[in-house]
Amino acid sequence: MSDSKKPDKIRRNLVVATSFLGGGATVGAAVPFVTSMLPSERTKAAGAPVEVDLSELQPGELKTYSWRRQPIWVFRRTDGMLKDIKKDNGVVADPNSEVPHQPDYAKNEYRSRKPDLAVIIGVCTHLGCTPEKKAASDSAEMGAAWNGGFYCPCHGSMYDYAGRVYQGVPAPTNLWIPRYMYLSDSKIVIGKDEQGEA
Ligand code: FES
Repeated sequence: MSDSKKPDKIRRNLVVATSFLGGGATVGAAVPFVTSMLPSERTKAAGAPVEVDLSELQPGELKTYSWRRQPIWVFRRTDGMLKDIKKDNGVVADPNSEVPHQPDYAKNEYRSRKPDLAVIIGVCTHLGCTPEKKAASDSAEMGAAWNGGFYCPCHGSMYDYAGRVYQGVPAPTNLWIPRYMYLSDSKIVIGKDEQGEA
């Protein structure tokens, strides 16, 4: 090789070496980034759908489950409670659930897939407290319009047995209904429906 061609050859070798090192550096940097994006098993478990056995749930009984760190009420309403919900249409702020705080299959008068079973996120839409169930017989405490439902003691918001918010209380909207589906007559899964996982 003549001396005049040496600089070109040196430059080519430098380019190859730099590219290789650059590629190596990129791969090396990418590994921890990809690793950091993988959800831990604990994170996946916390967000996973929750199966609930309904076989022991009695009429009038409410059980609370945890899904995505939120309390989920699974509540078997009695025939009387369903009648009470109908009485509330004139006192709740959004009787037809126009605000989309529920899947389409729960946009009905009971806000549920089947009338008796309510599945509701038990978090007040005002500032996030957990309301408590109050019977219709508590109307002396709650006021004449009260037909039973849920009361948030933090600032006095009231919801009926379908999770519909009363007019004139601090909470602006109905309680949220999560996505859920029946696996059988006596089992549901929360956080998943025909569309897949929520
Ligand atoms: S958080 Fe429920 S009324 Fe304020």
